[in-house]
Amino acid sequence: MVVQAERVVTGKARPDDAAELSLRPKRLAEVIGQERVKENLEILIAAARGRDEAVDHVLLYGPPGLGKTTLAHVIANEMGVNIKVTAGPAIERQGDLAAILTNLQAGDVLFIDEVHRLGRVLEEVLYPAMEDFALDIVIGKGPSARSIRLQLPRFTVIGATTRLALMTAPLRARFGAVFRLDYYGEGAMKAIVRRAAEILQVQVEERGVAEIACRARSTPRVALRLLRRVRDYAQVRADGVITGGVAHDALDLLDVDELGLDEIDRRMLRAIIEKFSGGPVGLDTIAASISEEPDTIMDVYEPYLLQLGFLERTSRGRKAARQAYEHVGVAYPEDGQRSLL
Ligand SMILES: Nc1ncnc2c1ncn2[C@@H]1O[C@H](COP(=O)(O)OP(=O)(O)O)[C@@H](O)[C@H]1O
Ligand SMILES: [Mg+2]
Repeated sequence: MVVQAERVVTGKARPDDAAELSLRPKRLAEVIGQERVKENLEILIAAARGRDEAVDHVLLYGPPGLGKTTLAHVIANEMGVNIKVTAGPAIERQGDLAAILTNLQAGDVLFIDEVHRLGRVLEEVLYPAMEDFALDIVIGKGPSARSIRLQLPRFTVIGATTRLALMTAPLRARFGAVFRLDYYGEGAMKAIVRRAAEILQVQVEERGVAEIACRARSTPRVALRLLRRVRDYAQVRADGVITGGVAHDALDLLDVDELGLDEIDRRMLRAIIEKFSGGPVGLDTIAASISEEPDTIMDVYEPYLLQLGFLERTSRGRKAARQAYEHVGVAYPEDGQRSLL
């Protein structure tokens, strides 16, 4: 097995990321960017509060590291209710889910991360729970088995997923409010870096903020991670202040380029270009050629490369775009040449 160095630019959460927790906005007003989603949530929350009801079920989707978990906590916080956190793959049996549901209090938020991985059997338990706040329990076995219906308090499911397409239609339909989180613009990214620097009490000049923000793949989680690494560098190699130059050197040393791509992204682009003539080539083939999991590529690497316009998704697989050739420094084959390949 090849043990790979951990990526600094991954948008995926690590279970031990305690530093991330302290940086998480608690109130809606502290959440930076995502203006449309925020405005819609504001209305959703105010309306529910006004009626003294639980918030409607909310589904948040989008690439990792953009704030789904954060928003789930913010919603619970703004409603002044408890939040129970679980994840699709963490619930194994119907009984586990039933136990979670029967422990909820009125108004509580049940946050289900990776909700697309719940599995059919659990989904069927969830449908009546979300729709009628009811839990059907089968007692006994065989011919004497009977089903009783338990009433649950009104509560809110907040689901999060990176892969909306993998969610079943009936589950999706149970969510009254569905929001997509998008990659962040430059202004929001800078504001996120500034805010985190203030909380971490690290001195960073405006040029340093810009350097980190523009190499963070338009993703808050990546920005926070880069900030921490650059802070280390500033402390050890400079006088602790993150100037533009310090940030630049630190990020170069981490192999994070001007667009936020790292060695793995570049290896993937180069594989498509050099081994498969620019594509189209299937995702599994790409994954095998760079020893990565297809799921990781789909969740973590590919969305940003698509966003940059470096990759195109076609029915026959992935294709490298002209910009990708330029970025890795390979001449783009002009039309004539391309059809000969
Ligand atoms: N809009 C935002 N404003 C400020 N910080 C944010 C924002 N969105 C995300 N973050 C930060 O980025 C980190 C990752 O966000 P998270 O909610 O865990 O992403 P996801 O659940 O979508 O993978 C959080 O620790 C949070 O501090
Ligand atoms: Mg999350």
